[in-house]
Amino acid sequence: MKINQNYNTLEKSYLFSRVAEKVAAYKQAHPEAEVISLGIGDVTRPLCRSAVRALISAAEDQGRAETFHGYGPEQGYPFLRRAIREYYGSFGVSVDEEEIFVSDGAKSDIGNILDLFSEENTVLIPDPVYPVYRDTNQMAGRKIVYMRATKENGFLPMPDPAVEADIIYLCSPNNPTGAVYTRRQLQKWVEYAKKRGAVILFDAAYESFIQEKSLPRSIFEIEDAKSCAIEFCSFSKTAGFTGTRCGYTVVPRRLLREGSSLRDMWMRRQSTKFNGVSYPVQKAAAAVLTNEGLAECRENLEVYRRNAKRITDTLDAMGIWHTGGKNSPYIWMECPNNMTSWDFFDDLLSRGAIVGTPGSGFGENGEGFFRLTSFGTEENTAKAMDRLRRLF
Ligand code: MLT
Repeated sequence: MKINQNYNTLEKSYLFSRVAEKVAAYKQAHPEAEVISLGIGDVTRPLCRSAVRALISAAEDQGRAETFHGYGPEQGYPFLRRAIREYYGSFGVSVDEEEIFVSDGAKSDIGNILDLFSEENTVLIPDPVYPVYRDTNQMAGRKIVYMRATKENGFLPMPDPAVEADIIYLCSPNNPTGAVYTRRQLQKWVEYAKKRGAVILFDAAYESFIQEKSLPRSIFEIEDAKSCAIEFCSFSKTAGFTGTRCGYTVVPRRLLREGSSLRDMWMRRQSTKFNGVSYPVQKAAAAVLTNEGLAECRENLEVYRRNAKRITDTLDAMGIWHTGGKNSPYIWMECPNNMTSWDFFDDLLSRGAIVGTPGSGFGENGEGFFRLTSFGTEENTAKAMDRLRRLF
């Protein structure tokens, strides 16, 4: 037999696993240290009350013969797809329930969607970016072209007509830089994709952090995007579902390539390889999207916004360059004293017991930068900022 040799081209471990290993080693050597994590974007606010009530009541349903649910509908329950359609409608985007696919999260779908595309396609990926885009394509052996996201272009690379790409990844608000594309900029990407017959894979996992009304929350706010884009979204950051697991992907009916409907292909793929998200979790996700649930989630998002402000205020006071944190939970900062990203990571962990994410883990252009998240508790974020101020 032969194994997939592409795995040998990958970094030894996934970025966040490497961070976790280093933190575990530090904790073992310093059991007394009070380590504060502003590293992986994992939330600290608990599920909102509406979601918890829905989970409990759905669990009770599962314990009674008359309300028991076995396998659910392949795309997700109609009650959740309807709620997602209405959620999109609340910011002016019209999507059809048949175009919505409920999943266990954006990360899985972003990797799994690649089943639909030939390995001969060329992939265009911003650098730095969420490592899943790079690693999943590397696993399949696709050719990857990187576009430079730098301080100069505001970490928002724009299409270069000379670059030939078939699959384009965009993440806005961006992980890790927090940069957000404007409508005009996304329009340019849509035009480029249409001209090339390419498909945009749009990661909107952080859309609920957008505060400025003029900024787009969905690629489908852009005219004609439905003929060239697929959108991924998640309840993880919006509603604290990192450990509960629920997301959704929108594959428009109008998205056709080589005469085939990508929506129908995705349906075929999901119904073959995926058995859906549990009924209680889908009930909880639907509860999040009620007026009451959304208001409760907004309170949690406010906590993260206050954390982001505390972090950016601290960096300002220290004279450290940074961006993000306004329409995003991520703050992207320059490492002090010209340190490399991993050197700063080690320094911050060993002297301050603070965990962040090294920018270079997100790509070459991330070298010299560092990502902090606003997902910590208010108390820990304040403590971490006091420590940071004292250290530098
Ligand atoms: C991150 O820290 O970049 C994210 O939490 C990772 C993820 O959402 O998978």
